[in-house]
Amino acid sequence: METIVTAGGAQLPRVGMGTFGSDKYGADRVSEAAAFALRAGYRMFDCASVYGNEDRIGRVLADAFAEGVCRREDLFIVSKVWNDMHGEGMALRSVAKSLSDLRLDYLDAYFLHWPFPNYHAPGCDGDARNPDSIPFSADRFMTAWRQLEEIHGRGQARYIGMSNMTTPKLEAVLPLCRVKPSLIEMELHPAFQQPALFDYCVARGMQPIGFCPIGSPSRPERDKAAGDVVDTEMPEVVNIAEAHGIHPALVCLKWSAQRGAIPIPFSVKEPQILANLRCVSEDPLTTDPLTDEEMRTLAAADKECRLVKGQVFLWEGARGWEDLWDMDGKIEGTGR
Ligand SMILES: NC(=O)c1ccc[n+]([C@@H]2O[C@H](COP(=O)([O-])OP(=O)(O)OC[C@H]3O[C@@H](n4cnc5c(N)ncnc54)[C@H](OP(=O)(O)O)[C@@H]3O)[C@@H](O)[C@H]2O)c1
Repeated sequence: METIVTAGGAQLPRVGMGTFGSDKYGADRVSEAAAFALRAGYRMFDCASVYGNEDRIGRVLADAFAEGVCRREDLFIVSKVWNDMHGEGMALRSVAKSLSDLRLDYLDAYFLHWPFPNYHAPGCDGDARNPDSIPFSADRFMTAWRQLEEIHGRGQARYIGMSNMTTPKLEAVLPLCRVKPSLIEMELHPAFQQPALFDYCVARGMQPIGFCPIGSPSRPERDKAAGDVVDTEMPEVVNIAEAHGIHPALVCLKWSAQRGAIPIPFSVKEPQILANLRCVSEDPLTTDPLTDEEMRTLAAADKECRLVKGQVFLWEGARGWEDLWDMDGKIEGTGR
């Protein structure tokens, strides 16, 4: 598997596999897919405690090591601390549980899944609100981040990262970090390119990992809204797919990887799992990369259409999901 080396020295595969079953595919289905993917050549898996399947994936990893499919050091395994485990000492407990479930001694990367401690129950609907939800606070964020720094210091995670951040939130917390994030996970697909955040991260040596790279067609109902763009139906994507004789989903992945992100597509379907790997991981000289002009066409096709809006994390008094994303350039709900 071809790898890239980040500014922080992390060596990552050019594509990883997502493991969130989107409330549609259960833990058995997802872990069977991961077992197939490992044998097909995937070397990076994007896990999280909230996905509810780390124990099954741990079994898959242990079997693969026992069968000689790969060695631990060949893999890049990510996990994330969920929002209800940000408090003092709680992230330390959460990483211990993830390590035990995944049957690993260390993670390659550990992420703060969301920048606030607002909790929603797995599988809740889009109108669900938790009365305990609160706006972002750099102090509370740092309570969780200090624990990730400790996890890194203990050797439980080679790299640490943040997810679902905005530029104003990064500006607020980066000066406070003793260990800077090496990786930033963010929603990235042709209809939602986040160019300013992407460039901000790259300029500071933080590698973007792109989630929902195909536009998450199977995402949970709570994350679907009228007006959401379907990436695989965008005319620009469809035209380029036709020109290359490939599925539009693969155009999304090629675009993401060629732009410099690491896409983490999810699928439980073997042909899709194989195609997603091969379209970005084979020798670029012998495969069929997008042309510079096609990359420019896709860059111009951005619809600024966020799919994972996160409205279930809103606090009392918030106006709408936009408040989670600091769209006016300042952190909402804090007066900053
Ligand atoms: N950090 C975060 O907060 C966060 C948030 C969301 C996701 N993630 C991570 O990102 C991963 C990927 O996101 P995602 O699963 O939401 O979205 P995605 O990868 O954009 O979309 C996955 C869906 O696309 C379809 N698909 C996959 N490969 C295809 C192919 N070759 N041709 C046609 N269709 C294809 C499948 O739909 P069907 O099932 O209908 O076949 C699959 O379920 C997750 O699994 C998770 O690990 C992280």
